[in-house]
Amino acid sequence: MSAPKKIKTAELRPGMVFDQPVFIDSENVLVQANQEISGRDIERLVKWGITEVETSGSLMAKKARDEDDPSDAPPPAATGFMDPGLISRPDDALKKIIQRYDQLRRNKRNFKRLLSESADVLHTNIRNLYENRQFENRAVIDIANRLTNEICEKPLMLIMFQATRFTPEWIVHHALHAGAYACLLGQEMRYSRPRLQELMFATILMDTGMLSVPGHILEKTEQLNEKEWANVKAHPLLGYKLLTSQGKVKSSLANVSLQHQETFHGKGYPQGLKGGQIEEISRIAHIVDSYTAMIERRPYRKANLPYEAMKTILSVDMHSYDPKLLRLFLGLVSIYPIGSIIKLSNDMTGMVVASKADKPLRPVIRLMRDAEGLPFNDLYFLDLTQKTELYIVSAISPASAGIQLEAEI
Ligand SMILES: [Fe+2]
Repeated sequence: MSAPKKIKTAELRPGMVFDQPVFIDSENVLVQANQEISGRDIERLVKWGITEVETSGSLMAKKARDEDDPSDAPPPAATGFMDPGLISRPDDALKKIIQRYDQLRRNKRNFKRLLSESADVLHTNIRNLYENRQFENRAVIDIANRLTNEICEKPLMLIMFQATRFTPEWIVHHALHAGAYACLLGQEMRYSRPRLQELMFATILMDTGMLSVPGHILEKTEQLNEKEWANVKAHPLLGYKLLTSQGKVKSSLANVSLQHQETFHGKGYPQGLKGGQIEEISRIAHIVDSYTAMIERRPYRKANLPYEAMKTILSVDMHSYDPKLLRLFLGLVSIYPIGSIIKLSNDMTGMVVASKADKPLRPVIRLMRDAEGLPFNDLYFLDLTQKTELYIVSAISPASAGIQLEAEI
């Protein structure tokens, strides 16, 4: 018997067996020695908010040896019964979606690497602007181009922004996330590839000025006072100045930094521009900035569900956005955006992997948990337009469904 060690709930997998009991706390045993941990056991821990368990034992089950990196682990196997009649017969459109999903699974590690490299380059170069050091325009253009090409060719990679943390800097995470959505919205606008690359470049630099805002303001949970708010509101102009002077960025692209907080109805800042006075790429940036910010976690609040974010944009903030772009954006991400975890009327849980603009309530789902809450042992897709007796009951968070998105994609 070795010294007791803590194991994160996120690292537990059904089928794991330890040669000593696994404890929830000093009084409660999760499983006895040599007893298999089940999907239900893990689900209970998640439901109770228990993030780690403890054991003095060693892992016995062969299946669990390579669990160091959860993103490498195969999805846990299902033991539940599934009605085979539920699985759509793939037509050509569904086959294409399945192919794209497969691309996501096969490429997720490379994409994560690209994201963390891009985050490093972006963060270093923005810092350099503040510290009067060389801003490597070419290096930032290079990451913008690589990201654009990846996102255009593998649009489901978007899910990785929600599934994984590739940088500790949330401002940088946000910049790249917004850039990816900008690129997809630009595609809907039929922008050429070079134009999309410029849009990506401009969007990932739009919050350059935010690095001047002190951490205590960025992380404040209460409402900002007047002085703090003035500090935040200075970021578009500051970013624009830094980018165009030290950074030698073309002013047509640095304009996105200056204008991304302007709103279509003229109530934004810093200049209170409205409608067509705001450049089109800045109007794109404004939509993707708002949406991605809502679905990201912040030090002072939880992430909103994509469904909630889309609802907010369409109800509370609608007039803040260019209506034509907003329509395209809604067609692109839909009411249950890609990556949303949803509960179906038959109690199964799945992830939205595609949607059709004319049938926003009937997206294509990758099934992830059966009605008992157990994982499937294979990839199953369901096109809700073909299975009309089923419907989405609610959008839920991955954590509440016990889903580790990065590992289970
Ligand atoms: Fe901003």
